[in-house]
Amino acid sequence: MKDFGYDISNYTAIDPIFGTMDDFDSLIRGIHDRGMKLVMDFVPNHSSDEHEWFNKSVNQEDPYTDYYVWNDGVIDSNGTRHPPNNWVSEFRGSAWEWNEGRQQYYYHEFLKEQPDLNYRSEELRKEMENVLTFWLEKGVDGFRMDALMYLLEVEDVTLDEPVDPDSGTDDPDDPDSLVHIYTTNQPGTFQVLHSWRQLIDQYDEKMLMAEVYSDVNDVMRYYGNDTYPLADFPFNFFLIENLLNRTDVTGYALKDIVDLWMDNMPAGKWPNWVLGNHDNGRIASRLGEDLVDALNMFDLLLPGTPVTYYGEELGMENTFVSWEETVDPEGCRWGPEHYQEHSRDPERTPMQWDSTSMAGFTTFNSTWLPVNPNYLEVNAARQESAEVSHLKIYNALAKLRQEEVFVKGVIAFPVITKEIFSFTRSLAHGDMYLVVLNTAEEEVEINLHHHSNFPLPDTATVVLRSLHDDSPETEIGSELSLDDVAMVEGGGLVLQLP
Ligand code: GLC
Repeated sequence: MKDFGYDISNYTAIDPIFGTMDDFDSLIRGIHDRGMKLVMDFVPNHSSDEHEWFNKSVNQEDPYTDYYVWNDGVIDSNGTRHPPNNWVSEFRGSAWEWNEGRQQYYYHEFLKEQPDLNYRSEELRKEMENVLTFWLEKGVDGFRMDALMYLLEVEDVTLDEPVDPDSGTDDPDDPDSLVHIYTTNQPGTFQVLHSWRQLIDQYDEKMLMAEVYSDVNDVMRYYGNDTYPLADFPFNFFLIENLLNRTDVTGYALKDIVDLWMDNMPAGKWPNWVLGNHDNGRIASRLGEDLVDALNMFDLLLPGTPVTYYGEELGMENTFVSWEETVDPEGCRWGPEHYQEHSRDPERTPMQWDSTSMAGFTTFNSTWLPVNPNYLEVNAARQESAEVSHLKIYNALAKLRQEEVFVKGVIAFPVITKEIFSFTRSLAHGDMYLVVLNTAEEEVEINLHHHSNFPLPDTATVVLRSLHDDSPETEIGSELSLDDVAMVEGGGLVLQLP
């Protein structure tokens, strides 16, 4: 638990703090009984230093000797030993750690307690295939592959990574200071991924998602192509990476993000839109509570798979976590001055179920991270019983997206302005929906006819509207004139066209 589960000491066991393998088996049965699927997080880049493989590797017991990335380092003219290169850990500081037992350095892209596995070892590759097979035989429906772009490093580890002149930092311990040409997206990574794809495809309908934060060209390589299939999709993190604060959210910016994916995605592939996860701040805090419903409309009604995070359906917010309470190793490694820029604790606080103590997350009297003090206002039970709420809108969107028009319908963009982002989804001779979002921090009135680049009908029926919109014109079921649509700040409307 040095990185809360991303440091695995046994790939085919359940950590007792979460239960037993029997619990897991009943979980998967329960999920399947409800017509749902279970996708496992697979962490192939590194194990824990407490894994028995690591111990045996330290002791140079074959075949484990080469299971990790070991190197003697270099000795300078003063006789002092240094790591073989300047590579920096994603969690800051040198990515090399001296091991007394083996008298060599080992490479760790993340914490020193997370040594990188060596995919140049055939035995290791076989070992990881067995891990995938183990879970596939258990009946899991697919994998989210963690930190995939780091899987292999360049073979010649004497090579330094170039300093990034545009990084805006001269701190050599900051991973942003280097351009990661030797530690990310290496050719061998795609070969390993392809072999995993082939293994997984021996089973029916299994899904493979790749966690990759890179520029768009490198990200798209993880789709592969028809003759060389890889992931079903690499995560589309551009909503997170290109929208850093409220003022970044404009109609143009949302359109650019859609185009960035759709124009670069290989033909015949399936898109996805990531709104949040356990490594990034929550929407309501990053971009504003007013935008919660509009962005959920965007996420759930565009073509492709929406990827979201527990609590986003309620508009949960980041929780303030003091330095003393901070547990995220990334936050901790930046120290009391800078932990808030890097800690992932604020988005990892307990799910807010109801208004009872600890937000109904536990009957115990404390939690590993503090419950957000707003839980009396923001919780699932309250939103379920309210007449209108983020949760109710989210549920309606989840239902709506199952309609054929949202599964197969083509997309078009009638009106894109600085304030307004809009799209239609339509079937050749059938349904047509229009989704309109106001990204501005103020009310906007818009004549959709006037601005549209293709003909729209005179009126449309309101199917859904965002929480803060209580105008009589936009009541669910009413006919709205498209000549004069008044939208609340950060608001969203889902309209059905005749
Ligand atoms: C991924 C995970 C993150 C973890 C890291 C190392 O980025 O999402 O939570 O710390 O990989 O495994």
